[in-house]
Amino acid sequence: MKKITNICCIGAGYVGGPTMAVIASNCPEIKVTVVDVNTQRIADWNGADLENLPIYEPGLKEIVSAVRGKNLFFSTDIEEGIKQAQMIFISVNTPTKTYGKGKGMAADLKYIELCARQIASVADEEKIIVEKSTIPVRTAQTIKTILENTGNKIKFQILSNPEFLAEGTAINDLQNADRMLIGGDHSTEEGRKAIDSLAAIYERWLPAERIIKTNLWSSELSKLTANAFLAQRVSSINAMSAICEKTGADVDEVARAIGADSRIGSKFIKSSVGFGGSCFQKDILNLVYISASLGLNEVADYWEQVLLINSYQRRRFAENIVTSLFNTVAGKKIAFLGWAFKKDTNDTRETAAMYVADLLLEETADICVYDPKVSQSKMYSNLEHLGTRSNEENEAHLKAVSDPYEACRDSHAIAILTEWDEFRSYDWQRIFDNMKKPAFIFDGRNITDCKKLTDIGFKVYQIGRGCNIASV
Ligand code: NAD
Ligand code: UGA
Repeated sequence: MKKITNICCIGAGYVGGPTMAVIASNCPEIKVTVVDVNTQRIADWNGADLENLPIYEPGLKEIVSAVRGKNLFFSTDIEEGIKQAQMIFISVNTPTKTYGKGKGMAADLKYIELCARQIASVADEEKIIVEKSTIPVRTAQTIKTILENTGNKIKFQILSNPEFLAEGTAINDLQNADRMLIGGDHSTEEGRKAIDSLAAIYERWLPAERIIKTNLWSSELSKLTANAFLAQRVSSINAMSAICEKTGADVDEVARAIGADSRIGSKFIKSSVGFGGSCFQKDILNLVYISASLGLNEVADYWEQVLLINSYQRRRFAENIVTSLFNTVAGKKIAFLGWAFKKDTNDTRETAAMYVADLLLEETADICVYDPKVSQSKMYSNLEHLGTRSNEENEAHLKAVSDPYEACRDSHAIAILTEWDEFRSYDWQRIFDNMKKPAFIFDGRNITDCKKLTDIGFKVYQIGRGCNIASV
């Protein structure tokens, strides 16, 4: 087994940055260099102000401050990073394709291919290549073919090592991972040695029994499967939330009741305004595409339902706001508490908030957003990405402010889109006093105390509970 002392990670994003920081902090003898084409991102990772790292994750700045400049480095010199490293992680983005065959469904592998070509052209000695990005099953074959056919005839070992961290808890997820999955070629001695070299890194802080070794294709497919199962649970409970609202059942009570069954378990059954994030939708679309490409249309239809329920849930939430506000929100100020796709992250990719905002902007509402970590410019770029109207119109009707009380002042309704902890302890009486009446709260995360708010005078809607507004 080769002892690894130099690692390069291509891609300094939500996965590459935190993952490499945790490896560097657990393995002081390994030099870890994270490289990226995005010069601003690298400058931010290297910036003196640890409050302004490109990614907000609890615990991240402490780790970066402890190891940056010692054995963790961020650089734009990709070639040098590749040359020096014995092991190269590919951690670049794999978004949904926006063009050509598979548009809107398949994963776009152009960045993966670029990495493979760059590694092939630069490498002058044997290297282990680790797929960290989430990719369609059998992508390792593509990487292998590129490396073998375009390079300097160097031998490469390809491993699949998908990442299961969730944003907002990334450091803890990495430090205490439930499992670490390594897929590789067990049929050759070099393949087995490469698997062991990677396993040895993780064994520095994870118990050996948590390291699962499989063949390449099982590992690649397990990543898509895990995300599909997690998202499916959220869509399942969200589907039940609609039934709850029509029948007087309480979705949180239902979740508690079923979650107590150890076969079901209590995680990922919290009803919400819909799941967001960069991966659930993208990975399920990819799974649907793969299934259909394999001629497995029933399988494709099955997984597609998870996404259909998710957009239904977001739409249902927005339409409920319109209906409750006497069928019109035109010119009415609606306050949004939260924009990030979940708490403790500044990531807004596929956030439910942007879809709800988009629907309300179609009804010509005026939206005022407060989110503790998300900038106004990010909100505008999310809306631009949806492409429903011009940037000027979005900018005229949606504003972000840095004070939640100001966001809510003179609003007709408050919509809670993210479950930030600070929302729980607001002075709701003060907020109520400064709102238009009747004052509505639409809690898309069920974090408020319905009775307390009702006693103050609010009209409250919670997902799967209805609360004191008759739901649609
Ligand atoms: P990201 O967009 O935050 O980061 C990717 C980075 O790669 C960007 O900074 C980009 O500039 C860089 N990059 C792209 N092509 C490059 C190239 N050729 N050379 C150098 N740098 C290049 O993405 P992310 O959220 O970190 O996700 C990365 C992968 O990990 C995706 O496949 C994703 O599905 C997967 N994943 C993400 C998460 C998550 O929580 N975000 C969790 C598990 C897995
Ligand atoms: C998810 C997976 O949890 C990670 O294991 C995976 O590595 C990652 O995707 C990925 O591949 O990118 P992430 O999207 O960061 O992680 O965050 P989650 O905690 O999974 O939340 C996703 C969305 O589902 C959020 O919008 C969250 O609010 C929502 N959610 C989650 C619910 O509505 N209810 C729940 O019970 C759980």
